[in-house]
Amino acid sequence: MYFGGDYNPEQWPEDVWHDDVALMRRARVNLVTIGVFSWSSIQPAPGRWEFGRLDRVFDLLHANGIAINLATPTASPPPWFGRRHPDTLTVTADGTRLSHGSRDTYCVSAPAYREASKELASVLAERYGGHPALAMWHVHNEYGTRCHCDHVARAFRAWLRARHGDLATLNERWTTAFWSQGYSDWDEIEPPRATQWLPNPSQLLDFRRFLSDEMLAHYVEQRDLLRPTGKPVTTNFAFGAWVPVDHWKWAREVDLVAVDDYPTGDLAEESAFTADLARSWAGGKPWILMEQAAAVEYTPRRTLPRPPGDLARTTLIHVERGSIGAMFFQWRASRGGAEQWFHGMVPHAGPDTRTFREITALGETLAALPTPAARTPEVAIVWDDEAWWALQGRGLPSQDLDYLEAVKQPHRLLYRAGHHVAFVHPEHDFSPYRLVIVPSLLPVTGTALANLAAHRGAVLMSYFSAVTDEHLRVRLGGRLPAFGITIKEHRPLAAPLTLSDGAEASLWSEEIALDGAEAVVSYPDGTPALTRFGKAWYLSTRLADKAYENLLTCLLRPTYCPTGTYEER
Ligand code: GLA
Repeated sequence: MYFGGDYNPEQWPEDVWHDDVALMRRARVNLVTIGVFSWSSIQPAPGRWEFGRLDRVFDLLHANGIAINLATPTASPPPWFGRRHPDTLTVTADGTRLSHGSRDTYCVSAPAYREASKELASVLAERYGGHPALAMWHVHNEYGTRCHCDHVARAFRAWLRARHGDLATLNERWTTAFWSQGYSDWDEIEPPRATQWLPNPSQLLDFRRFLSDEMLAHYVEQRDLLRPTGKPVTTNFAFGAWVPVDHWKWAREVDLVAVDDYPTGDLAEESAFTADLARSWAGGKPWILMEQAAAVEYTPRRTLPRPPGDLARTTLIHVERGSIGAMFFQWRASRGGAEQWFHGMVPHAGPDTRTFREITALGETLAALPTPAARTPEVAIVWDDEAWWALQGRGLPSQDLDYLEAVKQPHRLLYRAGHHVAFVHPEHDFSPYRLVIVPSLLPVTGTALANLAAHRGAVLMSYFSAVTDEHLRVRLGGRLPAFGITIKEHRPLAAPLTLSDGAEASLWSEEIALDGAEAVVSYPDGTPALTRFGKAWYLSTRLADKAYENLLTCLLRPTYCPTGTYEER
């Protein structure tokens, strides 16, 4: 079991390093991630390499039995790099070229940046690939920067050609006949930059897909240079609406899935959510919690320490779900710099603090912990980054649709009931699961629809699902044969209402025509709200937690169905 965190010794004089390793030993730290922000210290100027400090860090850690997860520092190009290659600085959608001054100010499509990234990976592989302290490689940091510059425009066009083949097909799939957007030359296509009003949703979705593939290509280039060292290569997945990463696809390219977990709501429920996602993305291979914080509520308004006992609680949630480590950002709280108020395993006040005592106790707990028995989930929830991106669009029938919440609701209810939950891609094999939940999956491929229809276990699909194809073109007619229904109309709700079984429903409703399914619960006007067609259930509204919990209990344990509702049908 790995235990440790991001370690940034370049921020500190060398005598502090000796305190660091002594404290690491006390806390039983056995792995640290170094180098994430080290570009300017190992290459302070073009062509000038300075490895003395990093060499000494390697040797010091090794002498103290602490293994190293070495990062390629490509997430934070130094000031000289942007000055020398201004075309590598990020351009926002409104055309502003960002300046150096923060971090992550790069463009993955800029040739000079790609070349520099490869050079960094090769130089590090050559210098440290054989070092006995090296345990794994950490490429980059939290991929996610979106750029809209001309390099990106060129790369986007090449990606679109490969995806759609010819312009006629692209025009058809993007429905460019609307608002006179028809393209007659590939060079007319731009990344979705600032525009007058609503953008084209298909273009937006393809741009997200493109960014995911483009960043993945940047990762793969580095990975392939690092792999000959024989050490596992990974990158830490960030999780947020801003992240254009298709996690299922990326998970196939990393040697172990690594996730960062920064919960903002209920810490335990959110950690379980991240951990269940990570385990599912890893698909049976090892995965690791690469970063979590000793702080909660790291927002512009406040930074709070975690409540007592919380570090251990959320860490064990990850470990129970198969994480092979518990890592933090960062080891020692920074004295200055942009994140100086972000908490560390060693706070500003030093080791004689509650946080460090909890860290030390956690190190002991983890060292003594037997490997938790693997559990096989019986429930799966469909997770699809593309559906999340699609529901972030504008111009939808309701701006209150929230994909993440639609997925998190059943997850937290199942977590509270003691379940470990699997996440699945819409085209995965569903056969291991008694119940597959499909929340608000707006775009679906034909393959995914057939997959759903073929599942022999129970399926619970919820509102605004399977409404469009993968290009966001509406599936006309509204028929959902696998559910024995036709959706005639979407009717977003302005206020909650009470269903026939007393449950509270909100956000959304639909007019459903029954084509073989039966109505289980109805709206006040008597039309179906929840339907059932054999094992295929369809929920056309958002249920309050209590009612959703009853429904899940009923689907998983029919003997517990509340009298007078589901089981009598
Ligand atoms: C992310 C980053 C870290 C740090 C933390 C805290 O996880 O990877 O570098 O910035 O957030 O904000």
